[in-house]
Amino acid sequence: MISPTGPFILSAILLYPILAARAADTFPWDQLTPSPNLNWVQCYSIFQCTRLEVPLDYSDPNVSTAALAVIRLPGNASDEQYKGPILFNPGGPGGSGVDTVVANGASFQAILGSQANQYDFVGFDPRGVRYSTPIASFFATDVERALWNAGAPLTSLNQSSDAITHAWGQAHLLGALAAQRDASQILKYLTTDNVARDMLLITQKFGFEKLKYYGVSYGTVLGATFAAMFPDKVERILLDGVVDAEAWFSANLTIEATDTDKGLQAFFDGCVAAGPELCAFYKPTAAEIADRLTALTASIREQPVPVLTPAGYGVVDFSLLRRSLFAALDSPFTLFSTLARGLAALENGDGDTLYSIVQQPQFQCDCSNNTAFSPIDDSTVAIECGDAVEVTDSIEEVTEFYQNAARTSQFAEFLVGATRVSCSGWQVYREDRFKGPVAAANTSFPLMLVTTTADPVAPKAAALNTQARFPGSALLTQDSPGHTSTRAPSLCTIGYFRQYFLNGTLPAPGTVCPVDATLFGVPGNSTSKRNTMSADEQELLAAMKVIADSVGPAIARKTKNWN
Ligand SMILES: *[C@@H]1O[C@H](CO)[C@@H](O)[C@H](O)[C@H]1NC(C)=O
Ligand SMILES: *[C@@H]1O[C@H](CO)[C@@H](O)[C@H](O)[C@H]1NC(C)=O
Ligand SMILES: *[C@@H]1O[C@H](CO)[C@@H](O)[C@H](O)[C@H]1NC(C)=O
Ligand SMILES: *[C@@H]1O[C@H](CO)[C@@H](O)[C@H](O)[C@H]1NC(C)=O
Ligand SMILES: *[C@@H]1O[C@H](CO)[C@@H](O)[C@H](O)[C@H]1NC(C)=O
Ligand SMILES: *[C@@H]1O[C@H](CO)[C@@H](O)[C@H](O)[C@H]1NC(C)=O
Ligand SMILES: *[C@@H]1O[C@H](CO)[C@@H](O)[C@H](O)[C@H]1NC(C)=O
Ligand SMILES: *[C@@H]1O[C@H](CO)[C@@H](O)[C@H](O)[C@H]1NC(C)=O
Repeated sequence: MISPTGPFILSAILLYPILAARAADTFPWDQLTPSPNLNWVQCYSIFQCTRLEVPLDYSDPNVSTAALAVIRLPGNASDEQYKGPILFNPGGPGGSGVDTVVANGASFQAILGSQANQYDFVGFDPRGVRYSTPIASFFATDVERALWNAGAPLTSLNQSSDAITHAWGQAHLLGALAAQRDASQILKYLTTDNVARDMLLITQKFGFEKLKYYGVSYGTVLGATFAAMFPDKVERILLDGVVDAEAWFSANLTIEATDTDKGLQAFFDGCVAAGPELCAFYKPTAAEIADRLTALTASIREQPVPVLTPAGYGVVDFSLLRRSLFAALDSPFTLFSTLARGLAALENGDGDTLYSIVQQPQFQCDCSNNTAFSPIDDSTVAIECGDAVEVTDSIEEVTEFYQNAARTSQFAEFLVGATRVSCSGWQVYREDRFKGPVAAANTSFPLMLVTTTADPVAPKAAALNTQARFPGSALLTQDSPGHTSTRAPSLCTIGYFRQYFLNGTLPAPGTVCPVDATLFGVPGNSTSKRNTMSADEQELLAAMKVIADSVGPAIARKTKNWN
């Protein structure tokens, strides 16, 4: 439905780990009357839904209300065993908790909730997101948005010498448009601090005083913000793929690119280890594969490759090649093989496979007005820019910012530069919004943080900074490339998740979990070990695989189109 705008959506993609790839079912949310209590109705066959009315402005309840779409996969434990809700946020910002829980809630509950299902696994759409109102929309119709996006294609900031200038101009136009179209002045209330307040209210409406929460990617910013604002309301907060929330609020995500290039190195090394049978872009050494990629990139810069398939069409140019590389770093276990095949085919002038990694459905005009609920890319921009300090950078300053960030990673073209540029024209700020510090000397229960060894957008450095700001919090490292632990199944990691929620047990300092999967499908110990696993373990691995398989490919595609 929607193509995002120039670089604007990029940070969202990057920070948006889990998408509802299979949320094909629909539910008439607009026919539910919002209520100050949780009035559940059956929905999406096995779920229960409600719309919770909350104050739009917590410092002035008279302003107006928001109506949060909340969904739960109810537990079935007896009253004595019932442990209440675990709230979940899938990242973005702008990710729909509802869609994600519909698609993957049963798998998440299997992973977190134990046999007895003592928890309700709860998704909610943050205010301004998807099925929650008020609606964040800068465009009157989907057609208007599609035309905007067509005029602001998603390019690398390294595509051409005027790419930054152009993106800066687009950001200023979009910022002005958003402000002009915000007649009812709701955008400034969509910030993360208010979502944290909403989470406390949801928890209280369930009859509990303290929050149990699982947040991934941007969801870690939300969780850390909650812990900083309500340190004595923490029962369990599990943050997976930890973003440096201080960096987030200061509109400087350079640190997030710390491990990005390690992911590309993992592609080279993994390809060597896999051999020519399993890795189509094989060379005997990592350095030779890197050279091979550099040569291919240079040749595509000179001469792009048109792609015309039954599913869609486009041009594989420098930006698209770079974007598919970057997308694969998010989900190496599902995308590295495809990436290797795509690169090898591209050398022979065939761009179909590479294009398929990031391919979007063509925009279909149903010529109706704006959809009833929020288009995700608009809410993404509203939240990330509304959270941050006001960015007043000139073109020279954002150019310098980008060049600086490019010293941290060769993918700064998509992450740090883009985010900084995309908020440079934003106008709608709420003066009394939370501005940090995102820290607490003592939370009522320690946070558990999870990082991987080569996360392209949430590096270990960000997790360590977060750990330092929340004394007592524990850090688990999963030994895999990819964004968040969800990208590769690991019984070890899941064991710690369960212990944390059920028992409050934290991983010991320095704990590293191996994964039960291999890059490029290399046969390894984990596969043979599978024969000796219990039925429960096999079931868990299957649940994790469902999540990993639905997330990676979906994320890659979302880089240009959210729905
Ligand atoms: C909200 O409205 C009520 C009634 O009009 C008024 O008494 C109250 O002071 C208002 N609250 C705020 C925070 O403005
Ligand atoms: C709850 O559901 C799980 C999984 O669906 C099932 O194994 C278990 O027996 C159920 N427990 C009760 C008390 O119904
Ligand atoms: C952004 O953060 C990086 C460190 O991650 C720092 O080197 C750089 O100076 C910061 N840039 C600005 C404009 O604050
Ligand atoms: C779209 O909106 C316009 C103006 O609000 C209205 O006149 C028109 O009937 C709407 N069209 C549809 C298909 O809903
Ligand atoms: C831009 O891309 C070229 C390869 O085409 C590369 O050599 C250069 O380092 C990149 N610049 C930045 C700032 O990433
Ligand atoms: C932290 O808070 C907990 C519970 O609120 C309390 O038991 C503990 O003594 C506090 N620790 C410190 C160092 O203040
Ligand atoms: C919880 O902790 C107890 C005591 O350390 C242990 O015996 C039990 O196995 C743990 N349960 C889980 C689910 O980890
Ligand atoms: C399999 O496990 C053994 C012992 O745990 C280890 O030495 C070996 O390197 C592993 N092989 C692979 C392919 O991971």
